[in-house]
Amino acid sequence: MWLRGLAPSVGTVISVICAAQVLAVSSATEPEHVSRETRNVAIIGAGAAGASTAYYLRKYAEEHDLAINITVFEKTDRIGGRTLTINPFDINGPSESVELGASIFIKLNAILYNATREFGLETTTREQDGVGGILAFWDGDKIRFDIDGSHSAWRTAARLAWRYGYYALKNSQALMHKTVGKFLNLYEPPYFPFKSLTQRTYELELLEETSLTGEEFLRKNKIPDLLSHEFIQALTRVNYASNLAHIHGLETMVSTAPEGAMSVVGGNWRIFDKMVQASGATLRANTSVAYIDLEKQDSKPPKYILKTQSSSDYGAMEETQDIAFDDVVVATPYQFSKISTAGGLLENTIDEIPYIKLHVTIFSSPFPLSAAYFKVAPPKVPTTVLTTLADGESPLDGVQGAGKAGFYSISTLRLVLNPKTGKIEYLYKIFSPEKVTPEFLSALFGVKVPDSFVGEILQDDADAKAVEPISWYYPHVFHSYPKGFPRITFQDPVIGDGLYYTSGMESFISTMETNALMGKNVARLIVDSLLGVDTEEAAVIEDLGYERGQSVLQEL
Ligand SMILES: Cc1cc2nc3c(=O)[nH]c(=O)nc-3n(C[C@H](O)[C@H](O)[C@H](O)COP(=O)(O)OP(=O)(O)OC[C@H]3O[C@@H](n4cnc5c(N)ncnc54)[C@H](O)[C@@H]3O)c2cc1C
Ligand SMILES: *[C@@H]1O[C@H](CO)[C@@H](O)[C@H](O)[C@H]1NC(C)=O
Ligand SMILES: *[C@@H]1O[C@H](CO)[C@@H](O)[C@H](O)[C@H]1NC(C)=O
Ligand SMILES: *[C@@H]1O[C@H](CO)[C@@H](O)[C@H](O)[C@H]1NC(C)=O
Repeated sequence: MWLRGLAPSVGTVISVICAAQVLAVSSATEPEHVSRETRNVAIIGAGAAGASTAYYLRKYAEEHDLAINITVFEKTDRIGGRTLTINPFDINGPSESVELGASIFIKLNAILYNATREFGLETTTREQDGVGGILAFWDGDKIRFDIDGSHSAWRTAARLAWRYGYYALKNSQALMHKTVGKFLNLYEPPYFPFKSLTQRTYELELLEETSLTGEEFLRKNKIPDLLSHEFIQALTRVNYASNLAHIHGLETMVSTAPEGAMSVVGGNWRIFDKMVQASGATLRANTSVAYIDLEKQDSKPPKYILKTQSSSDYGAMEETQDIAFDDVVVATPYQFSKISTAGGLLENTIDEIPYIKLHVTIFSSPFPLSAAYFKVAPPKVPTTVLTTLADGESPLDGVQGAGKAGFYSISTLRLVLNPKTGKIEYLYKIFSPEKVTPEFLSALFGVKVPDSFVGEILQDDADAKAVEPISWYYPHVFHSYPKGFPRITFQDPVIGDGLYYTSGMESFISTMETNALMGKNVARLIVDSLLGVDTEEAAVIEDLGYERGQSVLQEL
């Protein structure tokens, strides 16, 4: 649902007017006997999913006049998880920060978008637009197509149509809208809330999207190979570090939906920070949950005791929390959480799923990208490069998946002032499957980048006046999102009696919004169980009503 670093005109060209109306969630009818005892809920993880769980729990609790006491446990000392910013040259200030993780969401992402409005958070299109200039599609051999941000939308549309065909573009947009339209039903009754994402995938007829690779799905829907391999694959690579043969159709379609992309000034994590604040939760930062235990054997309903480890003490102090929780929400990928549970506590085992290891490297340089490297004449030097495979290259998976290009994308985020030289420089971001090397950077900029400039955050340098090809450098590795292999089942959000899990959403669609939606879903399930409302397990709807998410296509 986002597209990083594209020139504004692309957004316009492939943009659409979405008439999708996300209807208000009608609340369950209140039963007569509602427990007035305080319900203690623990949320493990303060990323998009955990923050949204806390926020909606409070909202629903207020709507139904329920006493809910929320405690959020967060391993690190900040809120946001994979949504975080860094500050180039360590200069503070919200307008200085850049997104290291999740950078963009779209207007259709109603939970995030509404939250920015409710909390008065200013949004910007800067992360998306970068410095404008030329967006190139590079296959490691040559630039196959480019889009010049200074051209009119009309001219760009004409070039796109000439290259890929007017109907091919239009059909791929229509396909994206059909898929997104189906997905949007998940926000509303009778599809919301849900105890089984697998079942909803089936009911919403999204199985074709999730069970086929992007390549198969596009081919089946008669999208021409050139558009798929050159353009759409560049989008799945920048969004999910995957070639079309290794990502399912749903995440493929999500990757092509960029309209109205934005981010929050000062960092998208602010949304989640505000959500936690608004929830009135007790935040236990620097506290990792290590163990979930039953308070008493055989008590019905069960209550849970958490054992935590404080990460601010180097001795890793262990602590047993003295309150018993009625509900526990695991809002982080279980396999990386280092949480264990008492035997038999999980009714559904949480399968380990392969995640992508993504290197994100942000750095500044006084040099533009090298024209020679991209084999173009200087005025045509790209500012943002998306990559695809060269003709005849096999679409591999994992580290080899980047192919000849060796990286997924490079974007010029913006201009920055180097405080050491007083000069304006470029701020770049590279997504790659492996560490960026000095050899690669030397070739990319056409200047010798010494080994010493790579591998650590640069400290103040005695020789500050020399022109450093890389003047500030910040490498980071993420378990960014799951590999989007085709699948037909998804981890359920209910993992035990009063135990919930949000990250099953990630192999369906991994975004801030979808994880926040899963958090909201879990909040609703908890409140419904408190109210004694049995969440409809089987929503049998005759007409699947895609119309709700149906969109009006803008003429190209
Ligand atoms: C480089 C990159 C770019 C991305 N770009 C985008 C984008 O542009 N748009 C978009 O929508 N999405 C993007 N994503 C995906 C998005 O970041 C994730 O889908 C989303 O942020 C996940 O949220 P979450 O709350 O489920 O998990 P997380 O953000 O991972 O939050 C989990 C939290 O749990 C904490 N935790 C873990 N274990 C424990 C424990 N034992 N005890 C206590 N706390 C614990 C962690 O510290 C963390 O804060 C990107 C991801 C990456 C890595
Ligand atoms: C977002 O706000 C709109 C307009 O107020 C509202 O109709 C919609 O239900 C909200 N959606 C969500 C998910 O909060
Ligand atoms: C609410 O939770 C906090 C721990 O986060 C605990 O200290 C407090 O006693 C709880 N309040 C009630 C009413 O249970
Ligand atoms: C968390 O730990 C860091 C580093 O040890 C410390 O600076 C910070 O104050 C701690 N935060 C909280 C809320 O305990």
